Amino acid sequence: MITIVPLSSQHQLAVETLLDDRFGPARRNRTAYRLRERAVLLPDCSFVAMDGDALVGSLQCWPIRLKSVGGARLPLILLGPVAVAAEREGQAIGSALMRASLAVIDAAESPPVLLIGDAPYYGRFGFSAAATRHWELPGPINHDRLLLRGPTTGLPRIAWVEPGSINTPRAAKVA
Ligand SMILES: CC(C)(COP(=O)(O)OP(=O)(O)OC[C@H]1O[C@@H](n2cnc3c(N)ncnc32)[C@H](O)[C@@H]1OP(=O)(O)O)[C@@H](O)C(=O)NCCC(=O)NCCS
Repeated sequence: MITIVPLSSQHQLAVETLLDDRFGPARRNRTAYRLRERAVLLPDCSFVAMDGDALVGSLQCWPIRLKSVGGARLPLILLGPVAVAAEREGQAIGSALMRASLAVIDAAESPPVLLIGDAPYYGRFGFSAAATRHWELPGPINHDRLLLRGPTTGLPRIAWVEPGSINTPRAAKVA
């Protein structure tokens, strides 16, 4: 039986092994890693999937910010990576991780959530590339995969996504 539990330091080694398995060691060169390399994980909305003692899935969230042309900065949450053990794909573990994280984020009235991933998968959770066409990241990005979920009112059309420093979804709430 699969249980979804908050990610804690005791899971970190197994999470890194899972991410190496699913994305390869070169994952650290991805643009998303440049956004979170100095960030502190958001523990409230980061989860792992356990089958007994075996870690079979993980989802991490990070604080980031959106900087507009005028220099104003708005908090966002970067969701990802999401990974499920290859032999456990298609068993709704990824969906369970997404639902757990988004439930916490929604309950905390947190800022919009950004991720880099496949729209055909993440669209079912409310993510869309519509608002991010003119956002730049600290590295190459396929804008079809730059997906946002949450209220877009007041978000700049042209902006830069950069590392942030908030610590919890609640702390990240837009004032
Ligand atoms: C993407 C991933 C997290 C999905 O986890 P999962 O537990 O297999 O997903 P679920 O069982 O909840 O959902 C399965 C459904 O999603 C679909 N799906 C899975 N990956 C998909 C993708 N990349 N694009 C479109 N649909 C996808 C499946 O076809 C299936 O569709 P169905 O419900 O219509 O049958 C998992 O496949 C994975 O770890 N992949 C490798 C790492 C990765 O690419 N992570 C995402 C980028 S951060």
